[in-house]
Amino acid sequence: MRCIFVSREGFPESMYKKLEEVGRVEVYRHGGSPWSTRGVPKSVLIEAARRCEALVIFIGDVVDREVLDAGAALKIVSTASVGVDHIDVEYARKRGVVVAHTPYVLVDAVADLAVGLLLAIARRIALGDRLIRSGAAEAVWGSLMGVDLRGKRAGIVGLGSIGSAIARRLTAFGVEVVYWSRRRKPEAEFALGISYVELDELLATSDFVIVTMALTPETRGFFNRERFQRMKRGAYFVNVARGGLVDTDALVEALETGVLAGAALDVFDVEPLPAGHRLASMDNVVLTPHIGSAAVETRRRMAELAAENVVSFFKTGRAIYSV
Ligand code: DGY
Repeated sequence: MRCIFVSREGFPESMYKKLEEVGRVEVYRHGGSPWSTRGVPKSVLIEAARRCEALVIFIGDVVDREVLDAGAALKIVSTASVGVDHIDVEYARKRGVVVAHTPYVLVDAVADLAVGLLLAIARRIALGDRLIRSGAAEAVWGSLMGVDLRGKRAGIVGLGSIGSAIARRLTAFGVEVVYWSRRRKPEAEFALGISYVELDELLATSDFVIVTMALTPETRGFFNRERFQRMKRGAYFVNVARGGLVDTDALVEALETGVLAGAALDVFDVEPLPAGHRLASMDNVVLTPHIGSAAVETRRRMAELAAENVVSFFKTGRAIYSV
């Protein structure tokens, strides 16, 4: 019977049940939360690839050339995430290994978090909470000042389904939304009432810059010193995509020099963010530990869809969503 490897215990039971339809499910005792972005050891993945036809993984589980080369019988890598930057997709393609992922089901959860982060930084919500808890709120009680969303311009960089869902929410707040992406999307412009602008214009004119683009070898380090310098003075920067899109030193510099008024970040180039990191000591920064899709219902659908991709692949020869 074919072996199907799942890199974590503790995913919703329905996921393992679905997988059992098409093989013998082997679960690695990861130890932590199944949704931890701290991946399983490479040696475990190599060993699993040697024995199994399918790997079901989560972000942090790095499937690179070494893992793929070990997988003589490996046919599909299915990740319970929309992002696939932890997988060497090009090399998998060369080896004829299908890479499947879970788009769409997490769109609303991530868009909700992006707007929550924007509110948290623009209205000083997280700072207010910190000041009260530390007993230091007296000096600012009633006068901690943020900025309105209404009347501002938000620039969304990378308009996919998540960017569109953020745009839909922000227009309801009275925010003017513009976007830049490699491909212009006239249907989205019409449906959402948003406008396409060139990247330089977006950076120079947006009060809020919101990142939703995918991390690929081409987009790694996209937000570098030069791009931060081009941003409107006093803008807020929100990243719910991937930390690798941002040169973190350049971001810190932009925050320290006042180019940016603040940043709200759910993702980091190194996760978990190392203890004592400079970002963690800055009052004009809101940090969350990669929880964009971390809502019970959404995560259940992600786990199930990761399984359904595998089931569909073995039953029909095609995953539901492959890249
Ligand atoms: C994804 O699906 O890529 C998210 O980052 C995980 O929450």
